[in-house]
Amino acid sequence: MELQQERRSVYIKTMGCQMNEHDTEVILGILASLGYGEVHSVEEADLILYNTCSVRENPERKVYGHIASFRALKEKKPQLIIGICGCMTQQQVELDNILAKLPHVDLIFGTHNIHRLPELLERAASGERIVEVWDEGEEIVEDLPVQRRDPLRAFVNVIYGCTNFCTYCIVPYTRGRERSRDPEAIVEEVRSLVKDGVKEITLLGQNVNAYGKDLQTPTDFAALLQRLNTITDLERIRFTTSHPRDMKDSLIEAMASLDKVCEHLHLPVQSGSSRLLQRMNRGYSREEYLQLVQRIKQAIPNISLTTDIIVGFPGETAEDHQATLDLVKEVGFSSSFTFLYSPRQGTPAATMPEQVPEETKKQRIYQLIELQNQISSATLAGEVGSVRHILVESFDPEKGTLLGRTRNHYQVAVPGPAELVGRTIPVRITRSLTWTLRGELLDQDAAAI
Ligand code: SAH
Ligand code: SF4
Ligand code: F3S
Repeated sequence: MELQQERRSVYIKTMGCQMNEHDTEVILGILASLGYGEVHSVEEADLILYNTCSVRENPERKVYGHIASFRALKEKKPQLIIGICGCMTQQQVELDNILAKLPHVDLIFGTHNIHRLPELLERAASGERIVEVWDEGEEIVEDLPVQRRDPLRAFVNVIYGCTNFCTYCIVPYTRGRERSRDPEAIVEEVRSLVKDGVKEITLLGQNVNAYGKDLQTPTDFAALLQRLNTITDLERIRFTTSHPRDMKDSLIEAMASLDKVCEHLHLPVQSGSSRLLQRMNRGYSREEYLQLVQRIKQAIPNISLTTDIIVGFPGETAEDHQATLDLVKEVGFSSSFTFLYSPRQGTPAATMPEQVPEETKKQRIYQLIELQNQISSATLAGEVGSVRHILVESFDPEKGTLLGRTRNHYQVAVPGPAELVGRTIPVRITRSLTWTLRGELLDQDAAAI
């Protein structure tokens, strides 16, 4: 008698950036085609998969701790498959460590061979210990199944990898060289997402501004935005991340003139000190960054700027830190992601002398966070009284409120009915908190319901 294919369960933990989040959507898509459904507890799972990040040390440590704690589960349930993928597996040191310290891991694959999962999983299920990590991506594999977590908003890869080699950063070693996707494939994907009801896309790349340079027929990111802007029924286009060095005037013009491209730009500065920027190999000075910001603000008056900052890079003095604080004030970022510098083995900064003591790093980051909080609340307070369009993403039945975001990416909660989910509606901003806004439906909308 032939048995029906058994339903299986996967627990997947995703760490790191949006690229990893999107890889998880692809992994879940592939797994769904193999009969796996997602569960949210490890006890229920037939497959536990950790999609890891290496950008800082802490999340890596957690992976070792978590996976070690699954040993008892595996003893109870020998057919359980435990897997690790993502950026950690792409580094030889971590791979060796995983193999030595976590002998109960059955399946290891990297960032370049996700499409190989069906075969790797089948072999792992038959008892073989699978370790398959590729140093570089081959041809970009198109048309993998994707299980999207959000029906209205979707991530779309435009460029893989990074060749910038900032001296602190592990990403170029874990994601390989820059490889742009063919613009036709991107446009096709977005068209089909829109057909499925997606209203907003976020274009992903470690440096989207480098898009198109490596293609056989070179193009650029501004040209891609222009093409995507013509897709009927697509409402909003966002993208991340932009490297300040590669931010061309054509992109600023595209942002200013294309109606679907939202007025939000994530522009990581990393430090306000030119001396440190040079040591980081960022390719711009404090002055160049500030001039760029000025050009952007002139062209797009209602722009919201956000950034990433590393505190305690080797050699950072009190003056360098002050320069960062001053820059944050001068630009007026609506929010910043702040990170304590974390040495990454194999990167040049890890062996630079003058590593900054932990205590100093912590004091500096607290100061920076406090300053940013003040600026963020002032920015949001400035929104009160204005009318903004929000794309309603969800409805909270307990509070009876709709949740959505403005084009600037500010989150707004508005009392209103669930039927408005998926619509873009104008709302009046009534109150501001540190991170979010409150609003009300405009009279005509309220009346129309
Ligand atoms: N490609 C993006 C960022 C990718 S990593 C860019 O260039 O902007 C996200 C952020 O993590 C970086 O912007 C940086 O602020 C931070 N980061 C990277 N390496 C780090 C390290 N070794 N220690 C602390 N923060 C780091
Ligand atoms: Fe890392 Fe720099 Fe590349 Fe961003 S641009 S991923 S910080 S090397
Ligand atoms: Fe982390 Fe890899 Fe993204 S190192 S930040 S998950 S590219």
